Amino acid sequence: ARKIIIDTDPGQDDAVAILLALASPEEIDVLGITAVAGNVPLPLTQKNARIVCELAGKTDVPVFAGCDVPLSRKLVTAEHVHGKTGLDGPTLPDPTMELQTKHGVDFIIETLRTEPAGTVTLCPLGPLTNIACAFEKAPDIAERVQEIILMGGAYFEVGNITPAAEFNIYVDPEAADIVFKSGAPIVVMPLDVTHKALVTKPRNDTFRTLGTKVGLAVAEMTDFFERFDKDKYGSAGAPLHDPCVTAYLIRPDLFTGRHINVEIETQSELTLGMTVADWWGVTDRAPNALFIGDVDSDGFFDLLTERLARL
Ligand code: BDR
Ligand code: CA
Repeated sequence: ARKIIIDTDPGQDDAVAILLALASPEEIDVLGITAVAGNVPLPLTQKNARIVCELAGKTDVPVFAGCDVPLSRKLVTAEHVHGKTGLDGPTLPDPTMELQTKHGVDFIIETLRTEPAGTVTLCPLGPLTNIACAFEKAPDIAERVQEIILMGGAYFEVGNITPAAEFNIYVDPEAADIVFKSGAPIVVMPLDVTHKALVTKPRNDTFRTLGTKVGLAVAEMTDFFERFDKDKYGSAGAPLHDPCVTAYLIRPDLFTGRHINVEIETQSELTLGMTVADWWGVTDRAPNALFIGDVDSDGFFDLLTERLARL
């Protein structure tokens, strides 16, 4: 199984991404979960991460709190999408498992230093603050990373928080810039692909009729999560952004993309946080990321349903 660290700001779609990983021990070994401020402030994201582990019945996965603010900007949150708790929808009990005392950034650094080089994959599902902070604090670790598979950015679908930027990159563009320049192998799940992973009504019913605690919670989470995209864009369902990351670990064959150069806009007020993706290869800038453009969405949902049923 591939050893991963999930870096996350739950978030209903983060929650589903975590559940998918925890339901797939044959392919994925979750060494730890580091929470970051993003969709909601850190006290809520670290709590939500523990709520999700308990929902999955996996209380032995260590959960750490990381950075509570972006590297050099004020935190922007997304309660308008995820609700006040960040995990609105289902009613889930407060977690009983404890938060680890170590800082999330130190956990990332120590894990990359102790595990053999090239054997740990980072899966960022929120703003890239923790990862960038770790790379800044420990410049030796970037070359030890097996792969970074992240949700963030957009190309044809451009922005969901500004006309030019996707939320995760927009919240901490300086952090994203550090990560994209780190030299570590990167796979990007931008809005272009995540907007194809929609929980339509029949798919929501499928989760609900699993007849399990997890199935019901996922149905209720995606019900809530759907409202924003439906009202705003007339979308046919809730986009499962972050689960694309964990699905890719299990079934990379469901996804296609291009190995291209991606740079982050950190200066312009108008286009701050834009992922400038050289999709057509019009520059001679070296490729630094596999930028995913398409997913077999039926295959993705079959996988998700089959795995959630195991929990
Ligand atoms: C990303 O932003 C958050 O709202 C979601 O959890 C996802 O990670 C989508 O832009
Ligand atoms: Ca997220």
